[in-house]
Amino acid sequence: MKRRAGLFLDRDGTLVEDCGILKDQSQVNFLPGTVKALKRLQEKFLLFIVTNQPGVADGQLTLKDVNAVNSFILKYLADAGVFIQDVYVCPHRRDQGCICIKPKPYFIQQAAAKFGLDPGLSVVVGDHPHDIELGKAAGGCGIYVLTGHGRKHLHELNQESLVVPGLKEASDWIFALAQYDNQAQKLKDELSRAGDAIKRGQLVAFPTETVYGLGANAFDAQAVARVFEAKRRPRIDPLIVHIADISQADTLVEAFSPEARKLAESFWPGPLTMILKKNRTVPDIVTSGLPDVAIRMPDNQLALALIRLSGVPIAAPSANPFGYISPTTADHVRRQLGKEIEIVLDGGDCRVGVESTIVSFSDNKPAIMRHGGIPVEEIERIIGPLSGVRQLQATSIYPGQFPRHYSPRTPLVLLNQDEPLPGGSHVGLLSFGPYTQGISYAAIEILSQTRNLDEAAANLYRALHRLDALNLETIFAYLVPDEGLGVTINDRLRKASNQSKRNHQ
Ligand code: TXA
Ligand code: MG
Repeated sequence: MKRRAGLFLDRDGTLVEDCGILKDQSQVNFLPGTVKALKRLQEKFLLFIVTNQPGVADGQLTLKDVNAVNSFILKYLADAGVFIQDVYVCPHRRDQGCICIKPKPYFIQQAAAKFGLDPGLSVVVGDHPHDIELGKAAGGCGIYVLTGHGRKHLHELNQESLVVPGLKEASDWIFALAQYDNQAQKLKDELSRAGDAIKRGQLVAFPTETVYGLGANAFDAQAVARVFEAKRRPRIDPLIVHIADISQADTLVEAFSPEARKLAESFWPGPLTMILKKNRTVPDIVTSGLPDVAIRMPDNQLALALIRLSGVPIAAPSANPFGYISPTTADHVRRQLGKEIEIVLDGGDCRVGVESTIVSFSDNKPAIMRHGGIPVEEIERIIGPLSGVRQLQATSIYPGQFPRHYSPRTPLVLLNQDEPLPGGSHVGLLSFGPYTQGISYAAIEILSQTRNLDEAAANLYRALHRLDALNLETIFAYLVPDEGLGVTINDRLRKASNQSKRNHQ
């Protein structure tokens, strides 16, 4: 019989707020999202709580107090449909030399024997480095959360650890990696192999919430040169540097203006790239010799884990041959660039599906350089009006605006909404909503059955990839309403349809 996996949860600072000595149920406050995350996690794991309560040995509370609080927590969770199999409490101080205090794996071994668990599949989630060590000591792995005392102890953690904002993201992370055979250890191995590859100057393709990126160590000029080669990308088209923590940005830029900081606080991690004055640590090849560097913090747990594990910021363009449609699945990457890349991390479909919005702070007034995953209105709500899309002086290109960009190989012809068009057996149609005109095509791709622009953006590149694979004579595409992400979709459709692409290689 296949043995089961146990998820061992720290209590204070992971499930409930850490208020020092938790003596009474009236002090119990569940951290936001706890119940929802646990409900999802129990599909995969038997759930346990493991907690060190040295306050008992110190006489600050009794074991009875601890048990009463635990019963309350268990009952609350059970009422919400979450079942904790057992709670393990170490009531000792570290200097007493007991066998049960975390990170000693005693309790996990007990649980494994009693519940028939495979200790190697154990995952421990907690806000103290001891929780991570516990996972390792048991033969499984740990995920570090930044709730509770997580931020305070972060510097004590070794670089290999996976760090996420909270329990929700820990569960996202576990599920995002499910394609690696549902085995925590395997998942971690794949990521640490990818982290090592980046450290060694190799290329790794990785998922982000926008599109897949083709990453290299941003501080390694030679590795970055290989990115340009793999994509056949001209060296005058600079790369975005991806970070996992705001403090990493400080190693790359001269200064953050207050407006840039506000945007970082509002949208990172997320599909926003900011162009800021670079400092000398950033090799010129990354910025194509420009004095500014583009930075973003992606909202994808695999991407963030990869950046943390590699220990450096990662320079990455989209993982497609230059000018071609951006990839939104690992398969797109493998098909287009599989031969050039050492590792392709598979994180499934990209959630947003179009590239990040780029805002430049290189002049006094912030300017929008590329429409993307965050509509301009949302950015303007935080820092006021932006100047419109403008041209870069030094390289005389707009970001993402080479004539041939985001393009399928099949000619793409744009139509205004509801404009009639001829069908045919060699013609494909890209439709925003359900198609009702009754003309027949070789293939029809519908971006959103409910005409939802966010959904349409998420499906855009996948639909173009599919149509382009059919060797059609023409793809007709309807423009979408010019609002919200519709502005970005129309921008990409226009660039993809640029007829001048035939003259560019
Ligand atoms: O969502 C995204 O932004 C994705 C994911 C992988 O993060 N990345 C992406 O990278 O779309 P890429 O290289 O395909 O597009 C980045 C655009 C390029 O058009 C480049 O010209 C512009 O950003 N860019 C990068 N650094 C710049 C800089 N220092 N100044 C001006 N433009 C810059
Ligand atoms: Mg690109």
